[in-house]
Amino acid sequence: MCGIVGYLGDEQAYPILIKGLHRLEYRGYDSAGVALITGRKDLAVYKSKGKVAALEAACEDKDTTGTLGIAHTRWATHGEPNASNAHPHYSESRNLALVHNGIIENYKSLRAELEKNGMTFQSETDTEVLVQLIEYMMGTHKCDLYNAVQLALKNVIGAYAIAILEKSHPDQLICARKASPLVIGVGKSKSGRTEFYVGSDATPIIGYTNQVVYLNDEEVAYMDRSGKMEIANLNNVKVTPQMVTLQMNLDELEKGGYAHFMLKEIWEQPNALRNCIRGRLNIEQKDVNLSGVIDNKERFLNCRRIIICACGTSWHSALIGKYFIEEACHIPVEVEYASEFRYRNPVIYKDDIVIAVSQSGETADTLAAIQLAKDNGAFVYGICNVIGSSIARATDSGTYLHVGPEIGVASTKAFTGQVITLSLLGLAIAKERKTLTKEMYELLIEELCNIPEKMEWTLANNKDIDQFARQFTYCRNFLYLGRGYNYPLALEGALKLKEISYIHAEGYPAAEMKHGPIALVDHEMPVVVIAPKRGMYEKVVSNIQEIKSRNGKIISVVTADDTVVRGMSDYCFTIPDTRDCFVPLLAAIPLQLLSYYVAIARGLNVDQPRNLAKSVTVE
Ligand code: AGP
Ligand code: GLU
Repeated sequence: MCGIVGYLGDEQAYPILIKGLHRLEYRGYDSAGVALITGRKDLAVYKSKGKVAALEAACEDKDTTGTLGIAHTRWATHGEPNASNAHPHYSESRNLALVHNGIIENYKSLRAELEKNGMTFQSETDTEVLVQLIEYMMGTHKCDLYNAVQLALKNVIGAYAIAILEKSHPDQLICARKASPLVIGVGKSKSGRTEFYVGSDATPIIGYTNQVVYLNDEEVAYMDRSGKMEIANLNNVKVTPQMVTLQMNLDELEKGGYAHFMLKEIWEQPNALRNCIRGRLNIEQKDVNLSGVIDNKERFLNCRRIIICACGTSWHSALIGKYFIEEACHIPVEVEYASEFRYRNPVIYKDDIVIAVSQSGETADTLAAIQLAKDNGAFVYGICNVIGSSIARATDSGTYLHVGPEIGVASTKAFTGQVITLSLLGLAIAKERKTLTKEMYELLIEELCNIPEKMEWTLANNKDIDQFARQFTYCRNFLYLGRGYNYPLALEGALKLKEISYIHAEGYPAAEMKHGPIALVDHEMPVVVIAPKRGMYEKVVSNIQEIKSRNGKIISVVTADDTVVRGMSDYCFTIPDTRDCFVPLLAAIPLQLLSYYVAIARGLNVDQPRNLAKSVTVE
């Protein structure tokens, strides 16, 4: 879930590790720790509850010298977030220190076994059994750390990315992974010697080197100061490391003058979407080309059904994608919560296409869902943002969002990037299956090309949201309503508000109100209605009327020239006119800004909301 950083080279490790932890803090952040082979060849472990800044404060009077170290930010799964449960964890003899992302499912039985053999435990974590088990293997098999890690991991059920230091071998670093990502960066020090960086994603490595190796499941890597790197599987069979070049740069990881990453990412959307459609949408020829569809044309021609698996915000964009693909391609589309799909014996046919939508490409449930689909012979397509992520690598084919790294925990540009990518996918499939008239195909393409500019208009014309949002500082509930393509957007608007402002919010199809939720409406209930002058406009106007009659406070998202809904609303956000299917791309912006400014007015940490992590690599 959270973050691992490691460094072995000529530089002082501590500043590199701390900087890396800060970059990873967006992933999970209840405690942090660092282990160093210090200048005195000690294996020192320092940890503290809270954010990385707290760790830095705790380390101020400590020996933080040394050129080899590992560090961690934790998102607790087993044991409360406190200093003793924070990572790194020592082994019994204190010869080893280990950091871990993931969950060891059989930790209880392993721990009982180790306790029988006299080992004592200092924490309540599942992680501590790993370091103890590895030390136990070194003792019983009389082997080195590299082999002991392989042997130990054979006994482990669950998910792990780990990095380990050994006091008696102060020049080596070992790491391993299964179902939790780990990247090794290989760089050159000032004196030209090879140095190694380890990260649970590439963000701590960027700026030092762009040459990286992604570890695969059940692989263990050995690195040492002579520049040697070796990778083997759990049976000690050597694997040739595949070096790839990172495509990300440092500027993309910084706030660029914005108060928060979330705000930066909201404002970045027009350009992010330009990057997303570049090279795929040809405006002159009015054509869409997605290599993932072209290369697998037969699959898309013959597919009987599409199942989209996703979680959270990605699930919302998948729902919009369903509406679009069904309309444009006449293929039935089912949208599944990956966490439900993976455990409920779903019917999967060999001629189904299963699409995984995931910003991070690391979500454990989504990864497991596509594994199930693959096991059942379906063709699996990935829509991910993070290049080289586990889902991107596990799928048969796919399309990257290319919206740049998303750091804010609340997904914004990845959401609109997913919606536009699913639209491109729908158009590319429709082209092969000839399910759209030429005229409609070209009209949709033309309008998609206008979206970035219309997003710019939306950002420029809704500038007073910050002032307006303040009045909701003490609200306890919100409702979000929309119909058709805007119903999933209502769900997304509600999720955004919940996750960063901690105000309870519900999204509903506007017409469902009368079947129950309308009972909640009174003068204290703000109701956000997405009401563009399109599709079911008249019906939505009636739905607004029903709420007004019950004294609800109406906040609407309307088309720029609207007068009717504007007249009924307590407050209006405006968007330019666009086709029904693309309204969510524009209407998402005021909803994102509303949640951002309400959270700011409540004095909350927008980029790092409580209890959440950017990348959910546990079940
Ligand atoms: C989005 O704002 C949330 N933080 C969360 O729901 C997220 O969308 C979900 O965890 C899925 O993540 P993924 O897209 O990386 O798979
Ligand atoms: N399961 C481990 C713990 O609770 C690691 C969690 C994480 O990935 O941070 O400490």
